[in-house]
Amino acid sequence: MPRLTSSPPHIRFFFPFFSYISCVVFLCFLSHAAESQIQDQELQVLLKLRQSWQDPSSLDHWVASNSSSHCAWPEIKCQEGSITELNLVNLNINYSIPPFICDLKNLTKLDLSYNNIPGEFPTVLYNCSKLVYLDLSQNYFEGPIPSDINRLAGLQVLILAANSFSFDVPASIVRLRRLRILHLYQSEYNGTFPEEIFGLSNLEELRLGYNDKFVPSQLPQNFTALKKLRFFSMPQTNLFGRIPETVSNMEALEHLDLGLNPLTGEIPGSIFALKNLRMPYMDLTNVVGSIPQAVSAANLSVIDLSANNLIGNIPEVFGKLKNLYSLNLQSNRLSGGIPEDIARLPALSDVRLSNNYLRGTIPPDFGKFSPLRRFEVAFNNLTARLNDNGFTGNVPGGLWMSRNLTALILSGNGLTGELPKELSPNLTRIEMSNNKFFGEIPSTVSSWRNLRVFIANNNLLRGTVPTELTQLPFLTRLLLGQNKLSGNLPTDIVSWKSLITLDLSHNQLTGPIPSKFGSVPVLTRLDLSENQLCGSIPPEIGLLNLTLLNLSSNSLSGRVPSKLENDALENAMFEYSLENNPGLCSSYSFMTPNVCNSQSRSNFAMIMVLPIAAAMFVLLALLFIIRASRKKMDRFDSTPKLTPFQRLNFTERNILSELKDENVIGSGASGKVYRIMVNSSGDTVAVKRISDNQKLDQNLEKQFSAEVEILGNLRHINIIKLACCISCENSKILVYEYMENRSLDYWLHKKERLSPVSGVANNMILDWPKRLQIARGAAKGLCYMHNDCSPPIIHRDVKSSNILLDSEFNAKIADFGVARMLAKHGEAVTLSGIAGSAGYLAPEYAHTTKVNEKIDVYSFGVVLLELTTGREAKGRDEDMCLVDWAWRHILDGKAISDAIDEEINHDSFLGEISSVFKLGIFCTVERPSKRPPMKKVVQALLKCSDRLYVVEQTSRRNLDVAPLLANPRHEEMPPSARPLHRCNTY
Ligand SMILES: *[C@@H]1O[C@H](CO)[C@@H](O)[C@H](O)[C@H]1NC(C)=O
Ligand SMILES: *[C@@H]1O[C@H](CO)[C@@H](O)[C@H](O)[C@H]1NC(C)=O
Repeated sequence: MPRLTSSPPHIRFFFPFFSYISCVVFLCFLSHAAESQIQDQELQVLLKLRQSWQDPSSLDHWVASNSSSHCAWPEIKCQEGSITELNLVNLNINYSIPPFICDLKNLTKLDLSYNNIPGEFPTVLYNCSKLVYLDLSQNYFEGPIPSDINRLAGLQVLILAANSFSFDVPASIVRLRRLRILHLYQSEYNGTFPEEIFGLSNLEELRLGYNDKFVPSQLPQNFTALKKLRFFSMPQTNLFGRIPETVSNMEALEHLDLGLNPLTGEIPGSIFALKNLRMPYMDLTNVVGSIPQAVSAANLSVIDLSANNLIGNIPEVFGKLKNLYSLNLQSNRLSGGIPEDIARLPALSDVRLSNNYLRGTIPPDFGKFSPLRRFEVAFNNLTARLNDNGFTGNVPGGLWMSRNLTALILSGNGLTGELPKELSPNLTRIEMSNNKFFGEIPSTVSSWRNLRVFIANNNLLRGTVPTELTQLPFLTRLLLGQNKLSGNLPTDIVSWKSLITLDLSHNQLTGPIPSKFGSVPVLTRLDLSENQLCGSIPPEIGLLNLTLLNLSSNSLSGRVPSKLENDALENAMFEYSLENNPGLCSSYSFMTPNVCNSQSRSNFAMIMVLPIAAAMFVLLALLFIIRASRKKMDRFDSTPKLTPFQRLNFTERNILSELKDENVIGSGASGKVYRIMVNSSGDTVAVKRISDNQKLDQNLEKQFSAEVEILGNLRHINIIKLACCISCENSKILVYEYMENRSLDYWLHKKERLSPVSGVANNMILDWPKRLQIARGAAKGLCYMHNDCSPPIIHRDVKSSNILLDSEFNAKIADFGVARMLAKHGEAVTLSGIAGSAGYLAPEYAHTTKVNEKIDVYSFGVVLLELTTGREAKGRDEDMCLVDWAWRHILDGKAISDAIDEEINHDSFLGEISSVFKLGIFCTVERPSKRPPMKKVVQALLKCSDRLYVVEQTSRRNLDVAPLLANPRHEEMPPSARPLHRCNTY
């Protein structure tokens, strides 16, 4: 039957279709199988990678899982199931790159920036044949860039910045013809760069800056051949000679940075003819002449020509730059007036014209049309305009009210006018000293809510200090000295919660010093000298933790509070604090003209009080004796409990029996410090005894033990070793290793250096190599606390007296009295009460108790400034702490060599010393987030190179000035987040 041999037509029709479908399904299955096989292989590569990096906790989520593919991990990008991108940024990778990474055959982008990868350039990557994008910046790579780097032939983006590569930049790099982006800034190149680099015709970004060991060179004539180049930066690369006129050939150029180079000649007029130019930086070069007057670059948004020798006028045409938001011409020799049109620019946010010879008035429209944030015209010859309706002043009203303005710097001109009734709510800083402002402080001053710094000394202000002025909760510095203020001081202080410095000296103030002044919680500098204040000094003043007190040249009378007397005994700073107050008396003749006695004239109250006081004294003394004897019994009753943190060669008995006065070597707020020889072989320890008079409350006790426990387990060569802790009923005793060379502070600032052992004067000077060694050691200690502990430890009281030195001058961080654990990494913790020491306090401390590790970075920056300048943190000038002084020095464009400690023979080390000074500057930036993390500080100190942290000549103090994107130099800053891990032991 034919029926059996032939299939029905519909079957015949369907069969091929089925086979087609099943075929497709089968193929799909095959390819799917292949794909999942690839996926599996690539997963294995990732897992191996993680393992070869010793499983950093940042990659804890890299585990095989059935439910989700590795393609979903945030560091990975895949295409069709195959890995194309690895973005491994800031993951605390500390080991080199293994060769099998190139088993990811489709890898096109590899970003390993911000890790700690050591070693030479990873030539293993040559096998990643599809690599287009390679970023190895911010690691510890060293040695040369290999001369066969052109084997990475597909590269379009090569970012090697902020490493320690040295030698030449190899000529072969120019064979990477596809390069669009090349970043080689901040390394250790000590040779040359190939001129042919300027022939890489596809380049859009070329950044070679901050390589100041490059052999000095000139910009080659051909450097302008790069037609696609948008971003060109070579600051601090030893470029000399003139800027070629041909610069105008770089048609695409938007960003040009040639700052910090010893360039000469004039600024070529053709620069401003570049149509696309937005940001020319030519700060701190030696260019001369005047600023080109013709500008066709209509998009200019930043002009920085600060700190040069420019003369002539500010070009009128700048007033036409609609996109200009930052104009920095400060520290030149510019003269003439400020063009009126500039005041009306719609984008202008940041104006810095200080330190020139500008004349005339401040154009009246400033602040009316521009989103001004910062306005600085200090130290010019700007003068008053005697205008039609008499004195209304010549600071344009719009300026005071300009909505975005945060800082207004007008000091050192001839300006007049009254203080404004109202102020822009964002204004946090007004500096207007050394002018001719007059009139009263308005009672509406309480509306200046957000003001943090108000400096108006040496003007003609009159009237009283109104109570309303005390209503400013964020005010940290108030300087109104050398005015004509009169009347009584406000008796009520409403909310000076943050005030650190108060200067009302050289006025005509009368009446008593209100006792409330003693309850301004963080006041550390108080100057009321040269007034007509009378009455006695309220004892509350003695309770302030002052580093500067000046009440001299008043009509104060009565007895000096005993707390002040004690402070004066310990601190020579108070020696002249009270002089020229004929009515004052104290127990010590060096402080006041009169020594008090019971018949002290004029002080009738004293005579009445004295017998009562005497009776109370006897009573107290009795009580004290009873308590003391009880205590003594206690001490022997309760057995002291010793907790050792290392093997000890002494017992608690050796310690307790030697806690005698003759062994005291110092005393601080928390107790006395003893030097004790613990055995006959001469081993010595330092012993700190805390709280001898009252039982610690239970919570405190717990906290104390927890803290001691953690500190006891810290093992780092640059952190003082806690040998053991002894707990008695009434006191806590901490036993540390003994440091032969005391503290850094002692070597830097003590006039008379006594040898610690012999008591003989020791005139040894800390030479530079020792100072650098100390800086490196201390930085490593802090870095360990911040990075290798979980939770991290903030020291909170870093200062030169807490950096101890052993016999070899190795630095050890000490005094964790105020150190606290951070609850969670990267998160600021609110702490009650303010610790820290004057001169070292980060500014955020003043108005918030939320702090993170960056407060230590700030304080450490101050230590670096001390090490390089030899100055004390609190400063020699009345009004300027070291940080302010150093910043002023930089801002004024003075040479760093003039700031350096004369005790150091700095000819041989000028480069290193300048680097460390700049690092100090960089660490003391106001914004915590802009300070480098300790890890980077250590790195910079080890390299001792300033390239990592170049001080941009003007703006780093207040980096909030310009939007960050506006200044690409800021991109070079490391992010601050870091992963967690437990305290490592070394
Ligand atoms: C690379 O990706 C493609 C798909 O985009 C894939 O077909 C190929 O197998 C992958 N190569 C490797 C070696 O994984
Ligand atoms: C450049 O630096 C490297 C590494 O520090 C060094 O070995 C080399 O000798 C230096 N070369 C020159 C020319 O100074």
